[in-house]
Amino acid sequence: MRDLLVVGGGIIGLAVAWRALGAGLSVTVLDPDAGDGATRAAAGMLAPATEAEFTEDAALALHLAAAGRWLTFAADLEAAAGTGVGLRESGTLTLAYDDTDAALLRRLLALQARHAVSSRALTIAEARRHEPLLGPRLSGAAWVPGDHAVDPRAVHAALQRAIADGHGAVVPRAAVRLARHEGRVVGALDDAGRVHRAGSTVVAAGWASAPLLADLPEVTVPVRPVKGQTLRLQTDPDLAPRHVVRGLVQGRPVYVVGRSPATEGPWAGHCEIVVGATTEENPDDRRATAGGVFALLRDARALLPAIDEAALVEVTPRARPATPDNLPLVGPTHVPGLHLATGHHRNGILLAPLTAEIVVAGLTGSWFDVDVTRADPPTLLAALRASDPRRFPSPDPDTRRTDGGPR
Ligand code: GLY
Repeated sequence: MRDLLVVGGGIIGLAVAWRALGAGLSVTVLDPDAGDGATRAAAGMLAPATEAEFTEDAALALHLAAAGRWLTFAADLEAAAGTGVGLRESGTLTLAYDDTDAALLRRLLALQARHAVSSRALTIAEARRHEPLLGPRLSGAAWVPGDHAVDPRAVHAALQRAIADGHGAVVPRAAVRLARHEGRVVGALDDAGRVHRAGSTVVAAGWASAPLLADLPEVTVPVRPVKGQTLRLQTDPDLAPRHVVRGLVQGRPVYVVGRSPATEGPWAGHCEIVVGATTEENPDDRRATAGGVFALLRDARALLPAIDEAALVEVTPRARPATPDNLPLVGPTHVPGLHLATGHHRNGILLAPLTAEIVVAGLTGSWFDVDVTRADPPTLLAALRASDPRRFPSPDPDTRRTDGGPR
């Protein structure tokens, strides 16, 4: 019997588990292949501004608050694990390829200004000074100093180490259903027939959270898979971008995230570059497609032609967990003992530290008592409310509670 069972060992599940251990809870994580879901494909952009969408103000507030937590989270995790997490605070260069892309970029800058996000238009000459290897055809550029990147695989490895050091267990088994007693969720049954009992259970299984919870009449978990393909390349450091490059190429978004040179392994002395990502309303079929790879390389090399010289070493197709309103499901549900941490869609890496903070606050009875460091607490509070898992009505009206959720 543990205090907490976490179903799902991606970056979200492990961040929750690690912070829960830090709060004094005993923790088990269940995942047959921890880190092999969306975490494996993610490039690691910490990009509230450059990933902002029109009409999604609550999401932007949430993402800005999450970005503000990454420095402390990375420093704490590196100290706990004794390994780096590849945080690069180098800012993001946003590029527009043609005139229509430049018009959209101007609208994005206006959106960012309305939300007091620091960003500014650059001339093409200024953009080339930031990033000398840009392609010949560009129509617009902007600089977003606060959007950074981290290496999700390094973060995941560090979390595994820190959890092991903290006496947490990561069990390589799949949860097949939740265990219940007198209405309460009391753990989960794994695919070997073993029941993992716990005082509380957090389901953080990405898009697979929906099928796992399908037979619970009290909760609605409208999470669907949205497939994305990313590419990993290796290049000489002289040919790697210095900053995250986010582009619009004839209306299609593309991003290029470079890492510092590797110090060991087969690519020691080279820089990894991640190019992403396709967005496909498709299931998690794990199939790389020729069309997906072609489109990503075509658009990335339009911005950074030196990509032609890099070695293409990996194509990673995985599915993000998306919700109907593009906000995650984070916190307690109507079912005693059951909490959710899923639905993070394009921002799972960015949202991991804040999600862990919110979930642990819910587990320890201080829901909404999270440390609000942002200048605009009411906005953050509204964003946290907007992420409440209880916002989607239960299919069974008799099981709806009227007193539990924040409103
Ligand atoms: N965060 C970018 C993506 O999901 O592709």
